[in-house]
Amino acid sequence: MKILVIGSGAREHTLVWKLAQSPRATEIFAAPGNAGTALIARNLPIGADDIESLAGAVRENGIDLVVVGPEGPLAAGIVDRFQALGIPVFGPTRLAAEIESSKVFAKDLMIRHGIPCGRSVTFSDYVEAKEYVRQQSPPVVIKADGLAAGKGVVVAESIPQALDALTDFMESKSLGASGDRVIIEEHLSGREMSTFVFTDGEIVVPLAYACDYKRAYDGDRGPNTGGMGSYTPPPFLTHGLDDIVQESIMKPTVSALAQEGRPYQSMLYGGLMITDEGPKVIEFNARLGDPETQVILPLLKTDLVDIIMAVIDGNLEKIDVECHQGACVGVVMASGGYPGSYRTGFPITGLGDLDEDILVFHAGTKQGERPGEVLTSGGRVLTVVARGETIVRAREKAYANISRIHFDGCHYRRDIALIEET
Ligand code: AMP
Ligand code: GLY
Repeated sequence: MKILVIGSGAREHTLVWKLAQSPRATEIFAAPGNAGTALIARNLPIGADDIESLAGAVRENGIDLVVVGPEGPLAAGIVDRFQALGIPVFGPTRLAAEIESSKVFAKDLMIRHGIPCGRSVTFSDYVEAKEYVRQQSPPVVIKADGLAAGKGVVVAESIPQALDALTDFMESKSLGASGDRVIIEEHLSGREMSTFVFTDGEIVVPLAYACDYKRAYDGDRGPNTGGMGSYTPPPFLTHGLDDIVQESIMKPTVSALAQEGRPYQSMLYGGLMITDEGPKVIEFNARLGDPETQVILPLLKTDLVDIIMAVIDGNLEKIDVECHQGACVGVVMASGGYPGSYRTGFPITGLGDLDEDILVFHAGTKQGERPGEVLTSGGRVLTVVARGETIVRAREKAYANISRIHFDGCHYRRDIALIEET
């Protein structure tokens, strides 16, 4: 099979890496890809949101399967487009992807079907939203309805901060139409983790659980980022918790979507807060997480092409999704200044000096002019990933290797997966 992976981040490099291991894969393409995908796939210079050019490339190259990484093209209906062309594609349809692209839709769906989540009220009127916020006690959570590249959620520690967020989203339109409606949600406390499940629209097969780090600096300080690191499995995950999450959240959500005429066939990501009252949904994503994918797929034993084809063909019951024992830790190396402004074009050194079992997934990288030269080209540059018997061991290996990689201005968190094992 010729397989095209859409996107250019470390998540997509990881997908390319895993798909390339399948005996069914003859050639892998990435669009647009990065310097990492270029080592094992053929990069096509087409943006992830340019659906018509992607469709053209699929026809020209005789591609048999398309795997979509990011949310943008999903929300724009890329899956519907490829389905209409009769090309097998892994991702939810536009309507099913609304579980991520409209937080209001996701919230209403959960309420209609009794899926546990924080209490909230939705507003499309700025004045009414402000009045409501003034009656709350902090912290209070303000969420823009639409896609916002990680900028759509403000956990406000004070009422003035919450009001500022409303002004930003609803008046100044900092996120465009994504802020036309907002959700004002109760603040949930507890431990955060995400679950990743495959579903063919009916059957739900859990793949993994992971934790990620959204803030830029150690100790969860600094601005929000696309994600600075991740590890799997969460040490507080028990069989009991796994059961509750799958039975009370993931399976009911997949059936709810099917009942409402939006069958969801793909990977579903549940972002959860484990509260004293049990797990509650913070958000759903209609895709794999970044940087969670970088730690989850290295532990997946089963052929990913087999799983994806079973999802698309609606016979997931035929597949055993098996994972390796152990833990996996991924640390993101970012450009100086990220998530604010940063410079690019710096050579990356040390990639050849790493232990054999270390994985480096590229994001903002491009090939330099000299053979083998790799340059920075984005905010998040690399995810350095190590597997180990325990999180502590995997963590040690990741950091021992990361210190051998250099580029000007590079920064990364020192506290990824720094946890007490239970
Ligand atoms: P999201 O973009 O939905 O992943 O939200 C970003 C982050 O905001 C989450 O990872 C949580 O840490 C936090 N968050 C979102 N909703 C809540 C909530 N209701 N209570 C507490 N924290 C929240
Ligand atoms: N790691 C969070 C996300 O992919 O949305």
